[in-house]
Amino acid sequence: MAELGVELAGVRLRNPFLLASGIWGESGASLAGAYRAGAAGVITKSIGAAPREGFPNPTIESYGSWGMLNAMGLPNPGIDDYPKEVEIALASGAPVIGSVFAGSAEEFGRLAERMAALGVVALELNLSCPHAEGFGTEVGGTPPEVERIVREVVDRVRIPVIAKITPNTTDAPALALAAERGGAAAVSAINTVRALAVDVRLRRPVLAHGLGGLSGPAVKPVGLACVWQIFERVRIPIVGVGGISTGEDALEYVMAGARALEVGTAVAVEGAGAFGRLARELSALLDELGIARLADAVGVAHAAR
Ligand SMILES: Cc1cc2nc3c(=O)[nH]c(=O)nc-3n(C[C@H](O)[C@H](O)[C@H](O)COP(=O)(O)O)c2cc1C
Repeated sequence: MAELGVELAGVRLRNPFLLASGIWGESGASLAGAYRAGAAGVITKSIGAAPREGFPNPTIESYGSWGMLNAMGLPNPGIDDYPKEVEIALASGAPVIGSVFAGSAEEFGRLAERMAALGVVALELNLSCPHAEGFGTEVGGTPPEVERIVREVVDRVRIPVIAKITPNTTDAPALALAAERGGAAAVSAINTVRALAVDVRLRRPVLAHGLGGLSGPAVKPVGLACVWQIFERVRIPIVGVGGISTGEDALEYVMAGARALEVGTAVAVEGAGAFGRLARELSALLDELGIARLADAVGVAHAAR
């Protein structure tokens, strides 16, 4: 049986699959459930300084087998009310990665300190939400902003910092390089792809917010291209995310350069059982290809060019 365990920024993971931020992460019980079902680790919903209700409904539109469009508006309980959820998730034994979002580097720094104090193994900085005014890409969409935010956080915490960058740019590797310069231990790519659906009968956008973010199988080639390009420019490990729903998708990301993976939409659609299925499929595929350790496959597609 192939070895699926990987190490990400000093954290040992039993397989490469992490629960992506925003999928069930508001509740500690559901984070724990994802771990028990086979996720190697779980990433919390992006948490901010204050509670936020998010945007009015409709916030999600399904595209069937293509994936989904969402504009949730970063709903979250706020950092003051979040410690008990992290505690519940940690009690399951799960490596918990705390995701935070903020409107400035200083606010990122303060929030990161508080999240780190809860016992999470690493932080993920949401520099990439495509639809929340004043947050995400609006504060972390350019290399200087990414570098400044990452540096501020790295200076204030002792755990690894993962910068989650946007695909909604002409130069994703430049954002990853900026994260590396700022001291990030890893970079995750991608967040959702900015997208729109229009209801022609109502003559208005389908989502109440208008623009949203596309996720699921349709964005896999976009995520793969970002990971591929980033691998050629940065040395820190890459966490691949975007449209992973089969073991073969996972291996594509690894061969393109990802060391670990996040799964969002597939889990939202299928339930936590997706984690066990993905691990089984990946393991069988590695056996079929004669690859003994997943870690040996990281970036191999580059050598073949
Ligand atoms: C409903 C929904 C909510 C999300 N919320 C967050 C979030 O709070 N923070 C974040 O960094 N990414 C968030 N994301 C993005 C996912 O973590 C992931 O980057 C993206 O969906 C691509 O992966 P997937 O195709 O496996 O879903 C969200 C995605 C969805 C579908």
